[in-house]
Amino acid sequence: MDKRDRLDTYLELLQPELPDWLYKIEEDALSNDVPIIRKPTQHFFRMYLSMMKPREILEIGTAVGFSSLFMMDNSCVDSRIDTIENYPPRIEKAKENISSSSYRDRINLIEGDAMEILPTLRKKYDLIFMDASKGQYIHMLPIIKNLMHEGSVLISDNILQEGDIIESTFAIKRRNRTIHKRMREFLEVISSDSDFVVNTMAIGDGITVAVRK
Ligand SMILES: C[S@@+](CC[C@H](N)C(=O)[O-])C[C@H]1O[C@@H](n2cnc3c(N)ncnc32)[C@H](O)[C@@H]1O
Repeated sequence: MDKRDRLDTYLELLQPELPDWLYKIEEDALSNDVPIIRKPTQHFFRMYLSMMKPREILEIGTAVGFSSLFMMDNSCVDSRIDTIENYPPRIEKAKENISSSSYRDRINLIEGDAMEILPTLRKKYDLIFMDASKGQYIHMLPIIKNLMHEGSVLISDNILQEGDIIESTFAIKRRNRTIHKRMREFLEVISSDSDFVVNTMAIGDGITVAVRK
């Protein structure tokens, strides 16, 4: 274990544990290879939610509902979340997890492709969490911008792509090159957009936090 891993382990020990019911959902997701927010990202969200108290939340990429449930468990009582998922087996599992929780009335699972659903949404959200296909972030960005008001925050996950983001295209496996190119493009576009204040942080697999001016 290198020093960075040891530091992460040490810092992890200082964080509160998940409640049992949420821990079980996390374990079940991980043992079935469902990608969910990592521990450092969970800790960031816990802090962010407690500081900013967003009421209207949108999530793109529900998977089995872990992050939606985690967010509700760390949010104020009048917050609610719309969350979009397009993969049927995960939708079924998410429904099961959400309906057996006490947050079922505050989580609205929207089934379908986010690229089709996003343009139909009419609300402005306080927080948008983008955690779907990495190659689509660049295409979703202009639509998402319309769903934000001044002070809204967009958090995008898996930005660093396990470190590959800094590699040249030629060092990336051929099958991952398109995603790599689009993620670079997303980072450049959002970081230079004067409508946003942006910071990308090496938390988990990297998150970009963009505040709408
Ligand atoms: C990383 S997982 C989400 C994990 C979840 N946010 C969590 O932390 O518990 C990404 C999910 O986005 C879904 N997804 C990818 N592209 C999508 C799209 N265009 N529309 C809706 N869902 C999408 C995938 O099926 C997958 O379940």
